[in-house]
Formats: sequence, C-alpha cells, structure tokens
Amino acid sequence: MISTDVPLAKKYLEAGRLVAIPTETVYGLAANAFDIEAVTQIFEVKNRPTFDPLIIHTDSLYKIRQWVEYIPNKAMCLAQAFWPGALTLLLPRKSIIPDLVTSGSSKVAVRIPAHNVTLELLKNIDFPLAAPSANPFGYISPTCAQHVDNQLYDKIPMILDGGSCRVGVESTIVDCTTDTPTVLRKGGIEIERIESIIGEIKVYAHSSSNPLAPGMLKSHYAPRKQLIISDAILDKVSSLDVQKVGVLSFQKYYKHDFIVKQYVLSGSGDYQESARNLFAFLRALDNTDVDIILTELLPEKSLGRAINDRLRRAATVS
Ligand code: TXA
Ligand code: MG
Repeated sequence: MISTDVPLAKKYLEAGRLVAIPTETVYGLAANAFDIEAVTQIFEVKNRPTFDPLIIHTDSLYKIRQWVEYIPNKAMCLAQAFWPGALTLLLPRKSIIPDLVTSGSSKVAVRIPAHNVTLELLKNIDFPLAAPSANPFGYISPTCAQHVDNQLYDKIPMILDGGSCRVGVESTIVDCTTDTPTVLRKGGIEIERIESIIGEIKVYAHSSSNPLAPGMLKSHYAPRKQLIISDAILDKVSSLDVQKVGVLSFQKYYKHDFIVKQYVLSGSGDYQESARNLFAFLRALDNTDVDIILTELLPEKSLGRAINDRLRRAATVS
C-alpha cells in the first residue's frame, strides 16, 4: 500500500513490521534497528546476504551519541556541514547496536536523511531505523514510491510516499574511525565538498557497496538487460548484431536506425539533474523492448563520480 500516513508508518514499525521510507537519495526499506526479527525480515525481503551491513537512520546527533562510543572531530565537522543530508558516517558502535545490523563489525553506519516526511517519522520514534535501499538485492535502487511498489508490493505492508528523490544516488559513505577518513562509497555529497571541510581524504580504490567483501558482488545496481559502457556510442551500435538498442546518454542525442529508445540524463550537462534521473531512466530502459542498453560515462568529477561508479557496477561483466 502506498500512503502518506506518517502515524500509520510509525504503528507498523513499532509492531515490528517493515515500511519503505522516502529519503532525498533513494527509498529505504526500514525496520526498528533494535528489533532483531524485524531486521531479519529486511534481509529476507531484499534477498540480501547478512554479511552486507545496514545504515541506521535517525533525526538527531543527540540520539546518535547513545549508540556510538564517540564522535571523532572530523566526523563532527562533516555532520555539522552536511546533516541532514546524503552522507553516511561510520562510527565506533556501542554494543546496544545489534550485530546483525553491522554484520558483526565494531563500526556502525549512521545517517540523518534530509527528507521532511521521514524526519517527521524519525522525530516521533525512539529507535533508529535500519534501512538499506528498498530494491531486491543487486537491482537498481528505487527513487519513487512506485518503483518500490513494483517489486515489493506483496512483501511489505506500507510504502510511505514522499515523492521523487531529490538527489537520486545513494549517500556518500565515509569511514571516520581512521586518522584519515576514507570514502567507502561515492554518493550524493561530492568528494570535493567533503575535502573542503576536512582536507584531503582517502578514497577506497574499489568503491563498492560491500567493503567487507569487495569483489564478491560481481554486479550491483544492475538492470536485467545487458548494459554496456562505451565511449563511442554510434560506433558501438553499428558493431552490435542486435537491432533494438536502448541508449542512456549524458547530454547528447545519438541518431541511428537501431537506437529505438533513448534517455538523456541532462540536456544541459547538469550533474544534479543527471543523478536525479539515473535510476528512473535505467529502470525505464530495462522495461522497454530493447535487446541491449548502451551508456557512456560522465566526466570524473562532482556527482559524475558517483554516477560512473553506479554505471560501472551495473554494466554487464563479461
Ligand atoms: O542513501 C543511502 O545510503 C540509502 C538510503 C536508504 O539511506 N541507503 C543505502 O543502503 O544505500 P544500502 O544498504 O543499499 O547500502 C549501504 C551500504 C552497504 O552496502 C554497506 O556496504 C555499507 O553501506 N555499510 C553499512 N554499514 C557498514 C559498516 N558497519 N561497515 C562498512 N560498511 C557498511
Ligand atoms: Mg543498496
């Protein structure tokens, strides 16, 4: 059921049920993080391995202090600069946070999302919400309530509708437990902006959604159709032996008899607009009658880095 009823969402969560929630990045599949049975359901509904830990969501630093050992200085600076927002911080956890949430790690991932509907919900509950993206494991993340409904309608009682996600790619994850903080996943807050606050940071080489077991997930954010990245779309179309090609491009329209469906992320080359459109366009192409999807990378800066990371991992691994 898709609904805007925040008190009802609260009731379901208090009763140990799952509710999909809107955030500015993507929709999350939320449960009371302290309720082991409810958190177990998250892994079941998503078909997600339990070695892949969950982010906990809340509305205040005051609450976070009850769940972590301490907040390092640089983490505090980032929290003040970007929360509520598309930034997740890894902090040393207290044992009150269940092992299942962190996959046994001594660090917990925390985020204050910037979405009024979900902040209203979070303000009214006294537990954090464990919430991964509300998609089946490995598929494209949902950026509107309908995306969630298409895949999970019979598995969860409620999808809290907060409209389309303003950012459109997942949060940037920064491990703040090391001397030099490390970006584990490129996301909605640009690395340039993070460095402008705390200086140079490390970027995890294989920015993966699963830093505990990098390489175990050969693809992620992936459509069912074959997705190929090319820096010469038209040459590539001509070289393929299929005649119905879908294209997801950055700025340009490409004209070719075999290109039957095309989405342009942003005609004006805007990174924000591109991120906002990315997952909806990939889903739309996946649901059209094309044999293959071709795409191209963006310049490796600003949100282009997060978008490229998603495209690379969605691309067919041969
Ligand atoms: O924008 C987002 O972050 C969205 C919205 C719903 O908040 N959530 C999201 O969750 O993208 P998910 O589960 O799809 O991706 C979270 C990633 C995990 O794949 C995991 O690699 C990393 O965060 N993570 C979570 N807890 C961690 C931990 N304790 N140590 C290392 N990595 C962790
Ligand atoms: Mg995810």
